[in-house]
Amino acid sequence: MRKSDVVQHAGTSIRDRSVILRRQVKMALPPQLRRRLRFAADRAVGLVTPGIPPPQVRRVISPTWLDFRRSGSDQVEFLVESAGLRPKDQVLDIACGCGRVALPLSRYLTEGGYEGFDIDRSSIEWCQGHIHRDHPNFRFSLVSVAANSSAAGDTGQPAAEFRFPYPGKSFDLVFAGSIFTHLLPDGSTNYLDEVVRVLDRDGRFVATWLLFNADAERGVPGRSLANLWPHDHDTYRVKDEDHPELSVIYAERQIRDWYAERGLKIAEPIRVDATYCPARIPADRAEGMHLYYAHCIVAAR
Ligand SMILES: C[S@@+](CC[C@H](N)C(=O)[O-])C[C@H]1O[C@@H](n2cnc3c(N)ncnc32)[C@H](O)[C@@H]1O
Repeated sequence: MRKSDVVQHAGTSIRDRSVILRRQVKMALPPQLRRRLRFAADRAVGLVTPGIPPPQVRRVISPTWLDFRRSGSDQVEFLVESAGLRPKDQVLDIACGCGRVALPLSRYLTEGGYEGFDIDRSSIEWCQGHIHRDHPNFRFSLVSVAANSSAAGDTGQPAAEFRFPYPGKSFDLVFAGSIFTHLLPDGSTNYLDEVVRVLDRDGRFVATWLLFNADAERGVPGRSLANLWPHDHDTYRVKDEDHPELSVIYAERQIRDWYAERGLKIAEPIRVDATYCPARIPADRAEGMHLYYAHCIVAAR
């Protein structure tokens, strides 16, 4: 059975129900206690799972990725099944974080090569020290791009002007996991232009986006767009106007237009983000969760 089938039919499994129950118990706890428990659990994961980045590095990427190893392996499996990733491919991982995907990829890309870049120094240093050391075909670059365009002290280059540090047509597959969720339109369109520049002919592009459409409000009671991303800019919305790149969600039609303008052909359907294990995504989506809005787009040049 393909992973996509599992995602669509996972709603009734015992695993799903236990995930839902756990989440309901969690939501009943006060936020401060929840944060403390999450921190303790994160530490425990690090203690029992050697070879993954320490909690303070992991926390930079996402508090929901406690199962760092499994979510990375799921992602690589998805790249193989849905985007035809081959062991000889050259892969670019935009905003690679602390190696969630690079770690399992390093066991798969035996003949090919990998480049990852990110703005977070601790993540890149960890990857260089732990992944590049054992897999010299895996390289990591620290880049300087502003993470908050509204902050006077952020000295990074504007995302709208950043040029990826690679020659044209260098990659068979570009992966962008949760970076367009941190880019405003001028940054997103520039990153898309750069993807098209560095992708080889017939290259594939897999990206996760926060996305809304006419259906978005259905199935997510109490978690409306207006609650989660209160600031409306028509084709996109942000959570926080003082730090707009914190979380950006786009109208599906806007993303489709951008892809079409650049000759990126979307493999239909756009689906719920495979980064998150299927059990976290109940098929009826009635529970209402932020992740309902996270989607994955597979496209080809
Ligand atoms: C949610 S994390 C995702 C990490 C990784 N892609 C993964 O799937 O595990 C977002 C990452 O984007 C990085 N980031 C934020 N803005 C960036 C930018 N403009 N260019 C490159 N990386 C950026 C952050 O440092 C962080 O590592």
